[in-house]
Amino acid sequence: MAVVRPLALHCSILPVHYPPVIAIDGPAASGKTTVGRELARRLGYAFVDTGVYYRAVAIAALDAGTPFDDAAALAKLADAMEIRLGDGGLSVLVNGVDVASRLRAPEVDAAVSPVAKVGGVRRAMVAQQRATAKGGDVVMVGRDIGTHVLPDAAKVYLDASPQERARRRFRELSGTEQARSEAEVLRNLELRDTIDSGREDSPLRVAEGAWRIVTDGLDVAGVVERVLAALGTEEDE
Ligand code: CDP
Repeated sequence: MAVVRPLALHCSILPVHYPPVIAIDGPAASGKTTVGRELARRLGYAFVDTGVYYRAVAIAALDAGTPFDDAAALAKLADAMEIRLGDGGLSVLVNGVDVASRLRAPEVDAAVSPVAKVGGVRRAMVAQQRATAKGGDVVMVGRDIGTHVLPDAAKVYLDASPQERARRRFRELSGTEQARSEAEVLRNLELRDTIDSGREDSPLRVAEGAWRIVTDGLDVAGVVERVLAALGTEEDE
């Protein structure tokens, strides 16, 4: 029988196994990307940040001047987009054009949740995300990965207070072209949380069976250890 044990207790010689597909969900700036990337590195898995897909659609809508309430036009736009993540997620090719440097611009932060609540946009993006995860050995992060995109995955839900999340995102952005005040960052996070949790199509929820980890006061390494401890199993036969 496989049993879950805290990592600190793994002192036997039995190998620890990790699930081949890991879903990490949580609200804006809860640390999913940093933790997910490090977890994938530790396990030798691919890392897929699904927020990038919706940010790419928001960029395409801004460029095309598509109104965010025109669901049919947004769905058409999304259907025509092929998204490829390269360089461990550092390059984001949309129909061959790299949009990575624009992903965190304030206008994209403002546009992404209204665009991501459109059912037709979600269907197009989810199809690409599922295709990407097909081979396994993947950590995929987002809002609906455990509840909808990959329901058979091992599930983690990362949470933190809005103030802690705003502080982290403010620190991440400061010194970059996309720097803005902490109050402004907090306002955007809270607005996105409201839209992401309140939408009709696959809203942000804690998936059944997910390990919920509150990360206030924990550093990245501390969160990664907790996730590994939660998901690792020893074969004792
Ligand atoms: O990095 P952060 O947590 O701020 O956001 P993100 O993961 O880049 O996601 C940006 C936005 O995309 C979210 O606020 C959602 O509106 C949308 N999203 C989604 O609807 N479903 C996902 N699986 C991932 C992101």
